[in-house]
Amino acid sequence: MTMPEWPSHGGQAEALLERFALPGDHVVDDVSANLNPLGPPEWVSGWLADRLGGLGRYPEPSYATARHAIAAHHQLHPDQVLLTNGGAEAIFLAAALHAGKRAAVLAPSFGEYARACAAHRLQVTKIPLSAPSFALDQATLLEHAADAEVVFLCRPNNPTGTLIDCCVIDALLAATLARGTQVVVDEAFIDMALGAEALMPLLARYPNLILLRSMTKFYTLPGLRLGYVLASSAVIEALARHQPPWSVNHLAAELVEPLLDDHAFADRTHAWLATEQPRMYQALSALGLDVVPSTTCFFLVRPGEAQRRGVDSARLFERLLRGGILARHTHGFAGLEGNWLRLALRDESGNTRLLEGLHDCLR
Ligand SMILES: Cc1ncc(COP(=O)(O)O)c(C=O)c1O
Repeated sequence: MTMPEWPSHGGQAEALLERFALPGDHVVDDVSANLNPLGPPEWVSGWLADRLGGLGRYPEPSYATARHAIAAHHQLHPDQVLLTNGGAEAIFLAAALHAGKRAAVLAPSFGEYARACAAHRLQVTKIPLSAPSFALDQATLLEHAADAEVVFLCRPNNPTGTLIDCCVIDALLAATLARGTQVVVDEAFIDMALGAEALMPLLARYPNLILLRSMTKFYTLPGLRLGYVLASSAVIEALARHQPPWSVNHLAAELVEPLLDDHAFADRTHAWLATEQPRMYQALSALGLDVVPSTTCFFLVRPGEAQRRGVDSARLFERLLRGGILARHTHGFAGLEGNWLRLALRDESGNTRLLEGLHDCLR
């Protein structure tokens, strides 16, 4: 019998239980998907149930209400906003806009940039990030971007959690503006990177900047799908030409405004991050793991000391799974080849269970 493939995204417990011949009802704490453990906000399910009557109508074609709410949230003009079916659709639209051209993509980074580029026949150059810090320095970025017509960056980067400095992106935009190179920055996790400097002000200076956002991570709505693009009105218009009509369902579109108005939920999330993020960085390091200095809600780790005792990432992954913890494998992330694991932050008790599980599995 052939071994089932490694699933290409987190949150796919079934496929991994099958791969390791574990029963379908084997209970796992899932730390493989990077979602806010506090969400979705409590009121969302009742709110959605009350609006199911709207399923009999097409959504508003231009999503004006949602776009106004997003524009007000970021102090931009509604013409600078495109509502999308998750951050994933935004990535594919950005690739469609540059079909057949030359792209540069970080490695390792989220796999959908490469998939979107392949779907739209872009030729891809990798911008290498090296272990153990996976930091991106300006010279490497400018060198690899020199020949590209579009550069895809991820900030903070999935799966490393590292954050590219605003001034490095500013330098890239300035260096590439005259050539017409577009810089696409996917900020799917930026709301969960405390203290990260905003790139929005750069939109006023650089028409070659395209920002992609996801609302599915922060509000824990991956099944509903919600994201958006921020760019110049000309770029938004060009992207919209590639978007299928009614791409975002009416429930998701109408939910944008009340989600952005829920400041109490945002505050609770930020308070959780402010405590659990530094606590987990310290505790994971104290277990002897190599931990990439993440700025956000997940950590890339590999067995450091334990590896010398024969516990490599593959063994750790399997031990954790058998012990009821599903980590994110890194097969398929260029440059990682399964040698690291990504762990999503949970609430305090979930994180403590994760630390105990790791402690047992690293022995
Ligand atoms: C960096 C990054 N961008 C975008 C997405 C897609 O997000 P969405 O669920 O909003 O489509 C993901 C999902 O994992 C991601 O990791």
